[in-house]
Amino acid sequence: MKVVAIVGSIRKESYNLKLAKYIQTRYQDRFDLEILNIRDLPFYDQDIENDPPLVVKEFKSKVAEADAVLWVTPEYNGTIPGVLGNAIDWLSRVDKVLIGKPSWIMGTSMGQLGTVKAQLHLREILFAIGISSPLLPGNEVYVGAVHDKIDNEGSLIHESTVQFIDTVVDNFISWYNHHTR
Ligand code: FNR
Repeated sequence: MKVVAIVGSIRKESYNLKLAKYIQTRYQDRFDLEILNIRDLPFYDQDIENDPPLVVKEFKSKVAEADAVLWVTPEYNGTIPGVLGNAIDWLSRVDKVLIGKPSWIMGTSMGQLGTVKAQLHLREILFAIGISSPLLPGNEVYVGAVHDKIDNEGSLIHESTVQFIDTVVDNFISWYNHHTR
């Protein structure tokens, strides 16, 4: 299975990027995870949506060719970061590559609630994009107090979180196989 990860933070030391890289390494025998770059996407502009810059075309193609999308997002001001909304705006238009694309969501923050509000909003947004954009039900991964759970090497060192994500990955793969059968 080929999964692409879209990470809602573009900073180099992003905890959400570290979480995506952890998933990429730990489950490399279960699926191939490519972390997409959203840093270089221009602002979405309806005037150019039919013939956008190459960077947008390549980004959309990678999502179109993937079997599934993993969203890994921080919470900014109680919602998703603008850079993530911008990426979604591009994906939602013209060829609408998210329609029918299985998705699952994770997020992490230094606060205790671990991106609850951002993920709720993201679920609503993905629902709005199309009723045929299937989203892994339940399995809500809110990794709070992340500075105590991911070490300097990017390893997840919080055992109950490790076990929980193991279960979520099993559930995602079962759901995906059932969904696409
Ligand atoms: C934040 N942060 C934050 N955290 C949170 O739990 N709820 C929030 O609403 C916000 N709002 C917010 C706004 C802005 C503009 C910034 C820069 C930060 C803190 C945020 O969770 C923290 O910086 C994370 O470490 C960001 O994720 P990455 O970049 O580490 O992946």
